[in-house]
Amino acid sequence: MITKGIILSGGLGTRMSPLTKAVNKQLLPIYDKPLIFYPLSILMLSKIREVLIIVNKGQLHQYKKIIPNGKRLGMKITYEEQSKPRGLPDAFILGKNFIKKDKVAMILGDNFFYGQSLSSILRDCVNIKKGAKVLLHKVSDPKNFGVAVLKDKKIVSIKEKPKKFISDLAITGLYFFDNKVIEYSKKLKPSKRNELEIVDLLNVYRKKNNLSAEIIGRGGAWLDTGSIEDFYKTSNFVSAIENQQGFKIACLEEISLNNGWISKKELKESVKFYGNCEYSKYLKKISS
Ligand code: DAU
Repeated sequence: MITKGIILSGGLGTRMSPLTKAVNKQLLPIYDKPLIFYPLSILMLSKIREVLIIVNKGQLHQYKKIIPNGKRLGMKITYEEQSKPRGLPDAFILGKNFIKKDKVAMILGDNFFYGQSLSSILRDCVNIKKGAKVLLHKVSDPKNFGVAVLKDKKIVSIKEKPKKFISDLAITGLYFFDNKVIEYSKKLKPSKRNELEIVDLLNVYRKKNNLSAEIIGRGGAWLDTGSIEDFYKTSNFVSAIENQQGFKIACLEEISLNNGWISKKELKESVKFYGNCEYSKYLKKISS
């Protein structure tokens, strides 16, 4: 069972400048909460209680204001700084003292997942015994993502942002790995764009016949919030669902409560922490 997770939440967010000049992208709002709440909620729904957040050097103080250490959530949350964006597998090199001898999940700080089937998919993923597992989702613009070609439910090839069409199944930014991930990541060589590439890491597993995939079907939503347009689209999606149903997506305290990690009394601490706002009103409602 995977009990540890990493959120890779650095990056320069240059595509979203000037919004990202002073504030890290993952702290900008998706409707009523910072973007980072959404990937964190996915790890929490996977029952992952120990989380390492990797942030840009110099931006740690911004994160600590909103997520100081996980205590309020009944979790253990620690941080590591990345001096420059060296690529996704750098997370496992920076995170080696956090991972220790365990397996680990990793989610990108700008990935948004939603859907009813998700919880059961996540339960399967954290149960991997060996190898690596990725989640795939059909997209209309595969050239913007890492993509996988499947044959008889097996991944036969993967490529980062292919110029020519090879498949419309994007590899989403949520990955599950055994402990070999540290060793394999250390052996990777930087690509032409001078980054360690996640597809190279996944290819190591694939060549050893140790890579599996789960598809998030049409009932599930996956959005990569890479651009300003994506932020608005995702915000509209969250707003539509929350206002129609009266439930919040990615309310961290609610997930902690449901996981049995905090009591209703402890949840009231968060009302004090956030102050008088709509989010606190929701917390009061679920803790009464
Ligand atoms: O979102 C899924 C896609 O994410 C996958 O399909 C691709 O295979 C994968 O390479 C990645 O592609 P992106 O072009 O979206 O990656 P990007 O460089 O935008 O980084 C994703 C997030 O990770 C972003 O929030 C910044 C953070 N990041 C990225 C790098 C390279 C870091 O914190 N450190 C890094 O070194």
